Amino acid sequence: MLTATMATKLNDQINREFFSAYLYLALSTEAEESNLRGTASWFLAKHGEEMAHAMKMVRYLLDQGASVKLEAIEAPPSKAGAILAMFERTLEHERMVTASINDLVDHALTAKDHATNIFLHWFVTEQIEEEATVNDILGRLRLFGDKGEGLLMIDNELGAAAKVMAQALAQASAAATA
Ligand SMILES: [Fe+2]
Ligand SMILES: [Fe+2]
Repeated sequence: MLTATMATKLNDQINREFFSAYLYLALSTEAEESNLRGTASWFLAKHGEEMAHAMKMVRYLLDQGASVKLEAIEAPPSKAGAILAMFERTLEHERMVTASINDLVDHALTAKDHATNIFLHWFVTEQIEEEATVNDILGRLRLFGDKGEGLLMIDNELGAAAKVMAQALAQASAAATA
């Protein structure tokens, strides 16, 4: 059984995951409006991943007999304006999420809540991967350029990566409902 504080903190995290999904949906539409089809697919796949993160936490609260409290989701910020800014915004956001996951782990450890601590390990690992991926994309944009052929190449790469992400997500959700 979770403490009331832990349940509140997990509910807050559910809201952050839904906000992440909303943020990436906004960036996906911005990319598509800028004719960056691969980038749009990548952010749409991220949107799907963040929805899955939120649902994982919803499932955990229900399995632990805790109450799920859904709050209003904040509107995403206005358009980033350029592809570099889109990924800079993504990195900044993921760093904030990493800090909030770490805070949840700290709390689970202090409360000797072993179940929640173990549950959160998946998220700790996921955040390492997410930050690394976005750092890599930013590095490639800075190296090969955020316009012209360099941008076209990276946009194509992001489109290919989006397909892999979407497939992995579909497999995970099929496994979760099997
Ligand atoms: Fe997430
Ligand atoms: Fe994320």
